[in-house]
Amino acid sequence: MAACGFQFHRLDSPFMSPSHVFFLGLIVPLNALSVSVDCESASLHYQNCTIHPGGVHDLDCFGKYSSRDFYTCVWKPGSHASEMRYTLIVKQLPDMCAADYDFTGVSKKIQLYQTYDTEVVVLENGGSTNCTRAVFKGSPQSLFRCGPPHRVSFRRHSGTLEVSVDWEEVDKTIIDNYSVRYKAQGSQMWSTSPVKSQNAQNCTVENLNASLVYSLQIQCIQNKKCSQCSWSEAYSLPAELMTPPVVINAEEADYAEEQGRRLLTLTWKFPAKETHDGFSMTVVKASGDARTTMKTTHPEIRLVLSYSAYNVSISAFNNVSDSPATSYVIPQRQPSECCEGAKLNVTVHSNTSFTIYWSDDLIANYFCYSVEWMKKGHTASNKSFYQKQVNYRKITSLQEHFQPYQRYNITLYTRSNKTTCALDHINNTEGTYGTTQFYFIEGNPVSAPANISVHNVTLTSVVLQWSSIPEEDTRGFLLGYVIHYAEYQHKGTETNISVDPALNSYELQDLQSGTTYQVQLSGFTQAGAGVRSKERLITTNQKGNSHFISIIAVFAVAATVLIFGRPVRKRMKDVLWPSIPHPGNSKVMHNLEGPCKLELLKSINTLEVQEWDTSSLQIVEKDVVPFDLSPSVQLPHQASQDEGPKSICNWNQRDLIGRISPQDSTETSPDAQSSSLAFQGGYTTMEMFQQVGLRIADASDA
Ligand SMILES: *[C@@H]1O[C@H](CO)[C@@H](O)[C@H](O)[C@H]1NC(C)=O
Ligand SMILES: *[C@@H]1O[C@H](CO)[C@@H](O)[C@H](O)[C@H]1NC(C)=O
Ligand SMILES: *[C@@H]1O[C@H](CO)[C@@H](O)[C@H](O)[C@H]1NC(C)=O
Ligand SMILES: *[C@@H]1O[C@H](CO)[C@@H](O)[C@H](O)[C@H]1NC(C)=O
Ligand SMILES: *[C@@H]1O[C@H](CO)[C@@H](O)[C@H](O)[C@H]1NC(C)=O
Ligand SMILES: *[C@@H]1O[C@H](CO)[C@@H](O)[C@H](O)[C@H]1NC(C)=O
Ligand SMILES: *[C@@H]1O[C@H](CO)[C@@H](O)[C@H](O)[C@H]1NC(C)=O
Ligand SMILES: *[C@@H]1O[C@H](CO)[C@@H](O)[C@H](O)[C@H]1NC(C)=O
Ligand SMILES: *[C@@H]1O[C@H](CO)[C@@H](O)[C@H](O)[C@H]1NC(C)=O
Repeated sequence: MAACGFQFHRLDSPFMSPSHVFFLGLIVPLNALSVSVDCESASLHYQNCTIHPGGVHDLDCFGKYSSRDFYTCVWKPGSHASEMRYTLIVKQLPDMCAADYDFTGVSKKIQLYQTYDTEVVVLENGGSTNCTRAVFKGSPQSLFRCGPPHRVSFRRHSGTLEVSVDWEEVDKTIIDNYSVRYKAQGSQMWSTSPVKSQNAQNCTVENLNASLVYSLQIQCIQNKKCSQCSWSEAYSLPAELMTPPVVINAEEADYAEEQGRRLLTLTWKFPAKETHDGFSMTVVKASGDARTTMKTTHPEIRLVLSYSAYNVSISAFNNVSDSPATSYVIPQRQPSECCEGAKLNVTVHSNTSFTIYWSDDLIANYFCYSVEWMKKGHTASNKSFYQKQVNYRKITSLQEHFQPYQRYNITLYTRSNKTTCALDHINNTEGTYGTTQFYFIEGNPVSAPANISVHNVTLTSVVLQWSSIPEEDTRGFLLGYVIHYAEYQHKGTETNISVDPALNSYELQDLQSGTTYQVQLSGFTQAGAGVRSKERLITTNQKGNSHFISIIAVFAVAATVLIFGRPVRKRMKDVLWPSIPHPGNSKVMHNLEGPCKLELLKSINTLEVQEWDTSSLQIVEKDVVPFDLSPSVQLPHQASQDEGPKSICNWNQRDLIGRISPQDSTETSPDAQSSSLAFQGGYTTMEMFQQVGLRIADASDA
């Protein structure tokens, strides 16, 4: 107060001319032109002026605590007024007045003593007959006004509203709290009790209806330094966005301008009716290497990306909320599709370090690289780095240790930016150089080639087919397969043949005719050979034309059937039925030609059911597995060493091939000695019949 140059003049003070600026310009703004006047003469000015609704009105005076003594008065002009001239008179004590005469504008700064109640009068058209006036009375200490907010932000989520208020600089330190009131759009009533803020900035309003639009006002809470708080303007709060956008289309195309990049077009829609201002999307490499957030108003984006995998999340926003995000995964594209010529190799030093080398012609164009490596089915790890001098980079201190026997895929990406390797913009900044695979430690395969089948058997060769060893079982780079085979009966020495890993079939040649071989397959890697498949027995075709014998045999069967009549036919049916479901479908039947076929079909067609006990029937199955006559029929125990009796249902034509072979005469097989043409009752006849049928089949195949 003492510092202020302004003083009211007592009645005895000399009259000052209106143009005289009494106080120090340094302290008082230039438009604060109140000068001390004689109260009596001042009152003469307005004795004719009336308080009139159409005249000057709404005079209001207030100040800020931080600049006590200085106040602002504002008013509204009369309705008739074009540009009016005003006079402002301030009276604090009966003999202490100040005035400004004849100025334009609708506000004025004044200076007041804190301790005295104040009366302010504004005159419009002072001195004329239709002069009007407005009066304001108050205590200067009750005129400290705070607010309105400088800036406000709102967040709505799940029925809650977070309000954050930024006050004007002068109010910041003196406002302790504020309150808010709100009403749903269309409703007349404000919320019954205003909600008080936690502090000068933040306020949480709960239990709102998320789908309603609200309007809201803010008012600071009065204290000594804020003796006046008024409601702010009404802010309009749109409804919460509660539904995520829906991706409706994603298209990937080659990016013609540069190899190793692709153009991705993602289109989505926002299904809800709530108004939204736009969409925000985050694109991040799945390896976590780079993240970009962008905003767009169109529900579509086109991005030029490398072949790496990316996660995209898209949400809609308005000025108070974000919708839930929708996620979209952009899968990795196989770098093999672009980067044929890429030269990459990897040397693993330990379970936490490796060096990657790349073609040195990259150095001229790129300084920033990103490398991503991963086990199959896992998320990628990454490292981006700056490398200007050499065409390799040692990467150490890996978080995730390399596991032995696991195949890792590694891809090198190049970045267009030459100064910083951090990708702050993801669009069209990264290309794919190439990919390769490596193992930390290779092992040998833990499974063997499976589904081994035999085809195209001849006198001296067979074709073997198998399915590959699953990649997770190879435990290293498969360098090839080994076919191990040896003569079975004579326990011959084993021969090993390696086969290219790309092949899945091989023709074993230079075999002996009519000989059974024991065959196994395995795969091998740098670490050695893997487990072998189960032993498989294969018999080559036999020398000599058995056509003539076969024809005789068929006649013998026919004769037997006719001679022994019904019992034999019954037995024949019992024997034959399970293994030949329908004669017409049997390959044996198809291969029987002319009269033989007719005879046989006739015999079978006349079979009749009889009460014959067949429980004593015992067929000894020997485990010699010949070539496949009909690949669709699979033997359940092809490689089994079991030589015990088998149920008749397992008995099919293939079991018999080995049995009629003259070479098939080892001590281990009890049936081996039986002559192929001997008549040994009904069963043997049946065997005969089948053998003959098969022989004929063989002959016609060959
Ligand atoms: C009243 O004020 C209007 C303008 O506001 C003016 O035109 C008019 O002359 C005044 N009347 C008298 C009597 O002064
Ligand atoms: C919220 O407002 C909507 C629309 O007026 C209304 O359908 C819904 O019932 C309200 N929800 C609650 C919890 O009041
Ligand atoms: C939010 O945006 C709407 C228009 O979309 C506007 O009417 C409203 O005033 C804005 N509210 C706030 C708090 O910014
Ligand atoms: C990304 O880059 C491509 C090609 O430069 C451009 O066509 C596309 O509009 C860009 N997308 C964004 C979201 O900037
Ligand atoms: C692979 O890396 C070695 C270093 O261990 C390097 O000498 C060799 O040239 C690289 N080979 C290729 C094809 O890049
Ligand atoms: C990594 O190698 C170190 C020593 O070479 C060994 O002590 C550690 O157990 C290995 N970690 C894993 C996870 O294999
Ligand atoms: C073997 O063949 C079967 C039937 O054809 C198939 O389901 C299975 O996957 C094959 N096994 C391998 C290892 O390929
Ligand atoms: C068997 O031989 C035929 C005719 O020579 C041939 O077409 C077929 O591919 C061969 N099968 C296998 C599995 O080699
Ligand atoms: C074939 O390989 C096995 C081991 O896989 C070995 O014991 C055998 O001596 C090899 N035979 C030949 C002829 O190389």
